[in-house]
Amino acid sequence: MNKIIDGKFYAQELNTRLKNSIEQINGKRKPKLTIIQIGDNFASNKYIKNKLNACEKVGIIGELKKYQENIKQSEIVREIEKLNKDLTVDGIIVQLPLPSHINEKEITDTISPLKDADGFTPINLGNVMLNKSNIYPATPYGIIKLLEWKKINLIGANIVIIGRSNIVGKPLANMLINKSATVTVCNTKTKDLKRICKNADVLISAAGAANLVTKDFVNDKMTIIDVGANFVDGKYCGDVKFDEVFEIVKYITPVPGGVGPMTISCLLENTFNLYSQKEN
Ligand code: GUN
Repeated sequence: MNKIIDGKFYAQELNTRLKNSIEQINGKRKPKLTIIQIGDNFASNKYIKNKLNACEKVGIIGELKKYQENIKQSEIVREIEKLNKDLTVDGIIVQLPLPSHINEKEITDTISPLKDADGFTPINLGNVMLNKSNIYPATPYGIIKLLEWKKINLIGANIVIIGRSNIVGKPLANMLINKSATVTVCNTKTKDLKRICKNADVLISAAGAANLVTKDFVNDKMTIIDVGANFVDGKYCGDVKFDEVFEIVKYITPVPGGVGPMTISCLLENTFNLYSQKEN
């Protein structure tokens, strides 16, 4: 049995389906995603490049608006307000992390929920919790798609998430609860973390801590989803000691090639859904 959950493969399949849907748009304008970047964060440069390449492959117009690190909060707010009104723009994302003088909450609140391709606005996140959204934060959405693709049972499953961020842990917990899973949300400071994780059917690590998950966290029936995106000594790695747990667990996502490509694929899907909502 192949233990690896190949997110790169499945994302390409989803992207091909999306490309076909976009090709069927006749005569009308193509969907457009605008990415706002502030400063020159090394990892953000890499992620944005991947997002723009993916846009091009499926036929979404990808636009980057890059601003100096020292730009004022009010100027960014004004730019977003302009994009909210721009009829040619369907999706807006502000790449995180932001410089420390920028108030992330105010920035997120400024994006129109109707153009919120990341699904980070309070309205869209609230609708996710209430199970009535059609826009999901891209990383949690990609994780659910991977689990469902591999036919991993979620109903009544004991799922442990390490990480309580607004963009992964919190929305993912709600999405899994809506699928009738039993969800435990931990963080790196949780007491007895290893013991709690060891009983899980599905362990999802989104802590941003390299080498956190060792063989002491896992069991032989477990599926591991590694959301970590860490750079250690210039090398990109997840939160899980992959080589140590690989032989033990049932399924595991690699880093790179697991959750990352799925996040991009779901971002594109969100952009297309926002476009379709607007055009129809
Ligand atoms: N930084 C890391 N992940 C993400 C994401 O999904 N969206 C945005 N906007 N920034 C990020």
